[in-house]
Amino acid sequence: MSKFTRRDFLKTGVGVGAAAFVPVGLGRAAALTATAGARPRVVSSGNGIRATQKAMEILKAGGDPLDAVIAGVNIVEDDPDDMSVGYGGLPNEDGVVELDSSVMYGPTHTAGAVAALRNIKNPSKVARLVMERTDHVLLVGEGALKFARAHGFKEEDLLTEQSREAWLRWKETMSDVDNWFPPKTEGLPAEMRSVMQTHGTINCIALDGSGRLAGVTTTSGLSWKLAGRVGDSPIIGAGLYVDNEIGAAGSTGRGEANLQTCASFRIVDAMGRGLSPEQACLEACKAVAAKTKLIPRLCDVQGRPKFGLDFYALNKKGEFGAGGFYQGGRYAVHDGVDNKLRDVAYLFKNPGDGR
Ligand code: GLY
Repeated sequence: MSKFTRRDFLKTGVGVGAAAFVPVGLGRAAALTATAGARPRVVSSGNGIRATQKAMEILKAGGDPLDAVIAGVNIVEDDPDDMSVGYGGLPNEDGVVELDSSVMYGPTHTAGAVAALRNIKNPSKVARLVMERTDHVLLVGEGALKFARAHGFKEEDLLTEQSREAWLRWKETMSDVDNWFPPKTEGLPAEMRSVMQTHGTINCIALDGSGRLAGVTTTSGLSWKLAGRVGDSPIIGAGLYVDNEIGAAGSTGRGEANLQTCASFRIVDAMGRGLSPEQACLEACKAVAAKTKLIPRLCDVQGRPKFGLDFYALNKKGEFGAGGFYQGGRYAVHDGVDNKLRDVAYLFKNPGDGR
């Protein structure tokens, strides 16, 4: 992490009144105490087991938690076989990959994000530069690309053969009355026949041994989305939130539901009120499920969400947890000793189980 700059000094409000730096609305009464010397932790979504490993190596070498989580998710952004993030991510309805990402750094309470960014493999690195090199928080579309070019990022086609094939099958399956014939699927492995919509994403949050927290969320977003659609990942308070006095939270899954609930902010707020990370994630799941009942097309016959949305949280003490709607989710945790996948806590055992 770079040294504290003149701009950081201005952004955090140090020197212009301490009150300017106190986040509004968070439960200060139960704010967790500082944890210098705590064992470092890295938490990520289920596709982030390599990210947690990499990030922990950086933390153990004395590195900064923002460097750690970004280096961790860069592995997945660069991986053509993860079709939900970065290079090889599934494209929008026009066959163009558009990426969203946000970062947040606890010690300065600053954030940066990009949305609908094309042609740049590592949107998380661009999001970090928005935070560190501008007075803005979020850049979108052409402006975000222009900014990335200004910082020397190389433009490349992010659509791999695999993601183009998946997009083409979706396109050919859309309608019986257009001019596209149904896709040829004979001979394709089962996973390649799917034209399902996906909301895959990676979130990674970390606490270092000095009590510094940081987080990142990065995604290619909803597959086959309308061009310009932005999900929850680059929205601070929805796809990611960090408060260095309390904890960090992030999400993967249906961004629209999270955008209407601001769950990451809620989760950090709930941890500030004394809930454990897991309890805070489940409370957010209940809030989303309750609001989803107002939208019947998104509910199953029992009024439960028909989509997935998972939350991940880590508090200042190093406690962690995750929550989702249905049983079966996994998330990655490096607790300083072991790096492994754990079960995501859930509201409902499985869709339609009557619980
Ligand atoms: N959570 C990722 C998205 O909906 O774009």
